[in-house]
Amino acid sequence: MKVKASAPSNIALIKYMGKTNETNLPSNSSLSYTLEHLRTFVEIESTQHNDSWEALPGLEPITLNETGLKKFLAHFDRLKNLWEVPGHFLIRSANNFPADCGLASSASSFAALTKATYELARTVRPQLQVSDAELSRLSRMGSGSSCRSFFSPWAVWSAEGAKPVEINLELEHAVVIVAGGAKSVSSSQAHKRVPSSLLFSGRTQRAEQRLVKLEASLANKEWQECFEICWTEFWDMHALFETSQPAFGYMTPGSIEVLARMRGIWQTSGDGPLVTMDAGANVHLLLRKDQVSKARVWLGGLNALTSWPRQ
Ligand code: PMV
Repeated sequence: MKVKASAPSNIALIKYMGKTNETNLPSNSSLSYTLEHLRTFVEIESTQHNDSWEALPGLEPITLNETGLKKFLAHFDRLKNLWEVPGHFLIRSANNFPADCGLASSASSFAALTKATYELARTVRPQLQVSDAELSRLSRMGSGSSCRSFFSPWAVWSAEGAKPVEINLELEHAVVIVAGGAKSVSSSQAHKRVPSSLLFSGRTQRAEQRLVKLEASLANKEWQECFEICWTEFWDMHALFETSQPAFGYMTPGSIEVLARMRGIWQTSGDGPLVTMDAGANVHLLLRKDQVSKARVWLGGLNALTSWPRQ
């Protein structure tokens, strides 16, 4: 018997950074766009041995370090206990996007694991019915940002939990890959460190205010306003990193070059993509559908993974 599930990644425009407890309750609300084309696939099958994980063949290989593996299996165990699933299982997972592209693959991984474990639980207890809101809440305990991956295309995650948000705007996504290799500070560590920054004071209010403004600007299609809010927001988060004690950071000269190019595009043409960065060096762009042909020029010479076919 084998169960399968997949879940998308998401990119936050208002960032979840800082948490108030170990079950990943956030210091501030966040807003994200779900990246349906960038997914994690999970398969679970029973085994005689202890619960274990391996890479699912045929897709982009994931490597999990010891901490990552522990977190993943601990989440599986939590769900198994909750839904009273007996026995031991082999979990296989992989992404359809490369591991080095600076995507919060923990979001899609934990969302997909939560969904697959739910499917598994339903094989034992077919009457079990769990809503997306509850699956999202459970997934949050494994990885905070994963709770937004249950709603598409836009999700907001506040103190009450994550939910879909009505914004009538479908976008394209590109991530400019400027650096490979593992991060020296994980996002889990980043959440713990940012309160040590003197700039952390006021962070919650700044993020909440931006969220309200961004939701309105997206709904009204005030594109430049959206760009300005997203730009300020990711710099706010990266400034927290660089002013934490001890300081840390993710931007490389390559990131700065891409950011400068995008700002130049906005300055010369009064139009451009929404720009954001996660806890990584790569630069994420969200574009309106009518910008895709221009984006071929904007991205010229850059190594980018795009939601549209590129030649
Ligand atoms: O879910 P975590 O603990 O990997 O946190 C991710 C945090 C950011 O990606 C930096 C921002 C966000 O809201 O996704």
